[in-house]
Amino acid sequence: MGRRLLTITLFVLLTALGILSTADPVNNSASGGLSWSSVNGDTDESLNDHDELDGGFPSLDGMLQWAIGHSDPAKLELKAHDVQKLSADELQQRQMELKELVEKLEMPSDAKLMKIAIDDLNNSSLSLEDHHRALEELLVLVEAIDNANDLHKMGGLAVVIRQLTNSDSGIRTTCAWVIGKASQNNPVVQEQVLELGALPTLIMMVKSRFTEEAIKALYAVSSVIRNNQNGIDLFYSEGGDLMVQGVLSNATADIRLHRRSVSLVGDLAEHQLEYSSKPEPSFFSSCALVRPVLDLTKSDDLDLQEKVLVAVKNLLKLKSAEPLIVDGFCGLNGALERMRHQLQQEEEDRRDYATDVEGLCKEVNLLYIEKLNKVSQVPT
Ligand SMILES: *[C@@H]1O[C@H](CO)[C@@H](O)[C@H](O)[C@H]1NC(C)=O
Ligand SMILES: *[C@@H]1O[C@H](CO)[C@@H](O)[C@H](O)[C@H]1NC(C)=O
Ligand SMILES: *[C@@H]1O[C@H](CO)[C@@H](O)[C@H](O)[C@H]1NC(C)=O
Ligand SMILES: *[C@@H]1O[C@H](CO)[C@@H](O)[C@H](O)[C@H]1NC(C)=O
Repeated sequence: MGRRLLTITLFVLLTALGILSTADPVNNSASGGLSWSSVNGDTDESLNDHDELDGGFPSLDGMLQWAIGHSDPAKLELKAHDVQKLSADELQQRQMELKELVEKLEMPSDAKLMKIAIDDLNNSSLSLEDHHRALEELLVLVEAIDNANDLHKMGGLAVVIRQLTNSDSGIRTTCAWVIGKASQNNPVVQEQVLELGALPTLIMMVKSRFTEEAIKALYAVSSVIRNNQNGIDLFYSEGGDLMVQGVLSNATADIRLHRRSVSLVGDLAEHQLEYSSKPEPSFFSSCALVRPVLDLTKSDDLDLQEKVLVAVKNLLKLKSAEPLIVDGFCGLNGALERMRHQLQQEEEDRRDYATDVEGLCKEVNLLYIEKLNKVSQVPT
């Protein structure tokens, strides 16, 4: 089972036994013998690399309560109030016992935890809070690819997808998050999500007036269709292109939505260039898309500027970009000029990043000139 869950279970036990809260008077050594420190040390790489922390990681507290709710009470035989009356010697004795207990304790398998979470989510007589906890647990579990692959086998994917239409926006948000995480770089789960018909719902959800819901829905849409031709075809036929265009041209939309939309445009163009034998969608060959993308460079967010330049680089390479290139590619020069000026004003601490982005500006400019020369030489 996952390290995180193991350490959490350990923490639950220690807390339930009253050991952690009474550890201080005896030099904090109470938990020293146990692998307690790993609770904090165990960071999740995959959560750090992207803005998936956007919505905040499910609270540890929520997980603890959930885990306690599913613990075997017979195993929690020591009582907190007993511990408080103990002398230092007795406490040390208890610590030894506890250590043995933890060693002997059988930790539930991921499959068992998944089943509990799925059953809870599917049980309409449970409270909203229970449903939240079940989803938070699933969010952690599906990060492991084996668990993500098991989700559908256990009937869980259908349950999560059904909850995308829950009346509670928090539930909808976490459902989208679970789907996005389970299908990220996982063609098997991508196909399952598509077959269960979740993509149109997710596309709709991006228009939610709840920002977090919109962000997680867009994350899920991107995960489900990434490098997946079926998904991409469905994306276009369900109006995903208009949805993205709407987000890009909405100046007041959250910056995280802008970043994700631009990345999605870049990914779609890249997929078209590298893998697709289909005609280029008209989506790419219009200033209705390119101009709002370029306008985002007005932001002083370097990450966003970088993503715009990467997307523009891919867009410029498409065959259908040629008519736009002849006409100045929807104001590319002006945007690059403005960006260069902005980048030169960057503070010292962002200088290196700004230099990288400036390099990317140059690349885009060279590519544009190269394409322009090529297009101009074609006799008309
Ligand atoms: C606390 O720790 C110090 C040094 O580690 C030790 O000398 C002292 O006896 C300890 N006190 C108790 C109450 O265990
Ligand atoms: C749903 O939850 C209730 C309350 O915990 C429980 O009594 C019931 O058996 C559960 N239903 C199913 C189908 O698991
Ligand atoms: C969810 O509950 C319904 C009945 O409410 C049941 O038919 C279905 O099998 C359950 N799904 C799972 C995965 O347990
Ligand atoms: C633009 O985004 C804002 C903020 O998220 C939202 O309130 C508004 O409805 C959006 N406008 C359109 C036309 O989608």
